[in-house]
Amino acid sequence: MTDLLTLQTDALARIAETADADELEGLRIEYLGKQGSISALMKTLGKMSPEERQEQAPKIQGARSAVTEAIAARKAQFETEALAQKLSSETLDLTLPAPQAPKGSVHPVSQVMDELAEIFADLGFSVATGPEIEDDWHNFTALNMAETHPARAMHDTFYFPDRDADGNRMLLRTHTSPVQIRSLVEQGAPIRIIAPGRVYRSDSDATHTPMFHQVEGLVIDRDINLGHLKWTLETFLKAFFEREDIVLRLRPSYFPFTEPSVEVDVGWQDVNGRKVLGGDGDAPGHGWMELLGSGMVNRRVIEFAGLDPDEWQGFAWGLGVDRLAMLKYGMDDLRAFFDGDYRWADHYGFSPFDQPTLSAGVGAGA
Ligand code: DAH
Repeated sequence: MTDLLTLQTDALARIAETADADELEGLRIEYLGKQGSISALMKTLGKMSPEERQEQAPKIQGARSAVTEAIAARKAQFETEALAQKLSSETLDLTLPAPQAPKGSVHPVSQVMDELAEIFADLGFSVATGPEIEDDWHNFTALNMAETHPARAMHDTFYFPDRDADGNRMLLRTHTSPVQIRSLVEQGAPIRIIAPGRVYRSDSDATHTPMFHQVEGLVIDRDINLGHLKWTLETFLKAFFEREDIVLRLRPSYFPFTEPSVEVDVGWQDVNGRKVLGGDGDAPGHGWMELLGSGMVNRRVIEFAGLDPDEWQGFAWGLGVDRLAMLKYGMDDLRAFFDGDYRWADHYGFSPFDQPTLSAGVGAGA
């Protein structure tokens, strides 16, 4: 029996002295492995007489538990030491600023389009869209610009070599006005829509890019007159520029798709050398700025859209979105809008979480 005691004391001493987990594993195999010395003692139990086994079993099992526990305890000790070692060698400075996650921003053009949608939704308008690759009929003919109409010259654009199934020439739309026709044909009257989107012309300088953005507006109903046009645009411009003193001047003009046609000017005043919208343009030191084209929809256009012009009439307007953004948010070079320079986008962009709402003011802080 002293053999067993010696074996156990010896084992515990050796376990306590192990230097690392590998050495400990070696001892575990030596004592408790399949060929291990304690395992061998366990096997002798089977060959003993019942009386002898009753006496020996608790002692051998006791030795086995003692060694098993000592190994587990030593193993846990090595693990704690390894962790402490790791924590002290790998320094982690929690006071360092976290690396900046790249953050996108809303382009001013998208921002202004969202603002427009918000303002006009309040006036009962929905947002309509149409294709950027348009056919000749929707872009020109149905808007009262026949094949030989001189107004087509101002809308020089990019043509595709192929024609559509009806033989129409395909082109990049030169304005958002074809959405008037598409919406009227699809939805009929009465209708109140705005149609923001990209348009194209073969133009390129500091104030013209071959692609730019417009927003079209269209109201068709019974008994609509020029007064509704003026009130709608005035209400919109006051909400958009967040100024009550916006003054409009309607100037006679010509567009093939409206009759009468008006050019809408807005009064501005000089504030420290900057033209700021607001006030009567005729007052001393003030002036007028041309902002958009508009008019009562031409009877011919209503007919082209399949409606009876004696029953339905209304007004329409077309307005440059990029220009509006420049006026409201103070950028002066249109080309920078489309350069894709992150620095510009960071500076002039808007937070995606800052949705324009009428209640909170549509002009989000940049
Ligand atoms: N489509 C015109 C353009 O791009 C703008 C325009 C003028 C649209 C008058 C209209 C309108 O709806 O009534 O030059």
